[in-house]
Amino acid sequence: MSELIKESYWVDSAPSPSHPPLAEDLTVDVAVIGAGIAGVCTAWELARTGKRVALLEADEVLTGTTGYTTAKVSALHTLRYAEIRRAFGAEGAATYATTQQGAIERVAEVVAELGIDCQFERVPAYTWVESEGQLAKIHSEVEAATEAGLPASFVTESDLPFPIAGAIRVEDQAQFHPRAYLLALLDDLRKHGGQVFEHTRIHGLEEGEPCRVVSESGHTVTAADVVVATHYPVFDRAMLFARLVPHRDLVIAAVIPEVQDPKGMYITPEQGIRSVRTAPYGEGERLLIVTGEGFTPGEGEVEPRYQALADWTSERFPGARLTYRWSAQDTSTPDGISYIGPFHLGARHTWVATGFGGWGMTNGVLAGQLLTALINGESPSHAGLYDPRRIHPLKEAVPMLKAQAKVAGHMVGDRLRSYVGSVDDIAPGQGAVVRVDGERCAVYRDDAGQCHAVSATCTHLGCLVNFDDAERSWVCPCHGSRFATDGSVLHGPATKPLRAVSAPPAPH
Ligand code: FES
Repeated sequence: MSELIKESYWVDSAPSPSHPPLAEDLTVDVAVIGAGIAGVCTAWELARTGKRVALLEADEVLTGTTGYTTAKVSALHTLRYAEIRRAFGAEGAATYATTQQGAIERVAEVVAELGIDCQFERVPAYTWVESEGQLAKIHSEVEAATEAGLPASFVTESDLPFPIAGAIRVEDQAQFHPRAYLLALLDDLRKHGGQVFEHTRIHGLEEGEPCRVVSESGHTVTAADVVVATHYPVFDRAMLFARLVPHRDLVIAAVIPEVQDPKGMYITPEQGIRSVRTAPYGEGERLLIVTGEGFTPGEGEVEPRYQALADWTSERFPGARLTYRWSAQDTSTPDGISYIGPFHLGARHTWVATGFGGWGMTNGVLAGQLLTALINGESPSHAGLYDPRRIHPLKEAVPMLKAQAKVAGHMVGDRLRSYVGSVDDIAPGQGAVVRVDGERCAVYRDDAGQCHAVSATCTHLGCLVNFDDAERSWVCPCHGSRFATDGSVLHGPATKPLRAVSAPPAPH
C-alpha cells in the first residue's frame, strides 16, 4: 500500500509560484483581503473591468479552505431548496438557483475563454438517501428545485456501487481542480495589472473616502474600496462572527480503477453526511474523494473520525487505495444563504463575502461577480438575497440561539473542566491544557520530547483552546480559530497569536 499523504490533493498536485510580501505603501482602486476563491475571483473580475487591484494574503494564496475543498461546482446543495422556499418564498428559491447555476456557467465560460487546463468536467449532482423513511425529503427537494428552475428529477438508480432508496439528480453541474483554475486566474490578474502579496497580514482597516488598510509590518494600502474575503471576516464591526457557525469536514482520497467511477457528484445527509466525487488521476484510474464526519472545530478527537471515514470508503468501494487525507473548515449562516455585499449597516466602501456553508465553489465565484457589480455602482436584482445586512429574526433566532448557547457553554464550562495534571502526562506528538503557575497553558510536546507552551486563552473572545490530534494545532471551540503549536494564527476570526508563556514548562 502506498504511503498516506496528509495533505490536500489540490495543494499537492498544483504548486503555486510565490508572491512577495507588501514592502511599501500603495494606492489602488480596490484592496482585496484574503486570497481564497472569493478573494481571487473578486480581484480578477474587478481587474477585468479596469480596476487597479491589490490582493493581500496573510499566508500563501489558495492554502486556506479553498485548497482543502472537495471542489464540487454545484447548484444542488444537499437539501436546501425546500428550506429556502419556506424561508424566502418561491422567488427567493428561484433567485438562489439562477445565481448558483450562473456561477457554474461563469466557470465554464472562463475555462473556455482562458483555455484553462483544470480538469473541468460536466457531471450530474445527486443527493441520495438509503432509508425509505427519508424519501419524502427527497421528493420535496425535487419539487422545490424544479420549481426554482433547476433540471432536477427523482431517481432510484445511480452509478454508486451500492443500492439507494432514492435521490434527486440535477443535470449540468460540474467539478474541477480548484487550484489549477484559480492559479490561472491569478496569472491573468497579474497580466491585467493586479498585484498579489503573500505573507501580508492586515491588522488595521480605516473606513472612509478613501479607505486605508495597514499591514502587520506597517505598510498602508489606500483604496477607494476594500473587500474582506478572509473566510471569518477580520475587522468584524458588524459582529458577523455571532451569526456564523463554524464546522469542519474530513476528506479521504483513494485511487480506484476508472471502470468503478460513479460518474457524478453525490452527497447524502444520512450517516453523518457522506459526499463522493472523483477526479482524473493516473492512466486508467480516478481519485475517489470522500467527505464526511463533520464536527464543530475543537470538539472531540479527530483521528477516530478519520478512521470511520476510511472504513466507510473501504466498505463501499472495496479495493480503493487510500492515498490522501485532509480537512476543511467552513462557516454557515443561520438562514443558509451566504453573506455577500456591504460589510455592515453604515458601510459605503467596505464589502464582505463569507458563510458559504460548504458550497464555496459556486458562492466564491458568485461573490466575485456580485461584489464587482456592486463596487462598479450597479444594483443587481439578486443583491438583496445575499445582503449581509439582512436580519430575519424569525428565520435566524433558533439557530443563532443554539450556536450562542454552545459558545456560552464553552466560555463558562471549559473553565471548570479538569485538565491533565502535569506536563509529564503529555505524550510526544500530543498537546493538552495544563495549569502552570495558576495560568491555563496550551502545552504541546514534539516528537523529540521538547515542550512548547502558549496561553490557552483564545485571542478572539477568550474561550479556551483544545488540541487537534490530527493536525497538531490548537483550536478554539467557540468560533473555530486555529493556532499553530507556536501560537501563530492559522485560521480566524482571531487575528493575534496565542500569547507566549514566559517560562515554558521544562521537558521531563
Ligand atoms: Fe472566538 Fe476563540 S473565542 S474563536
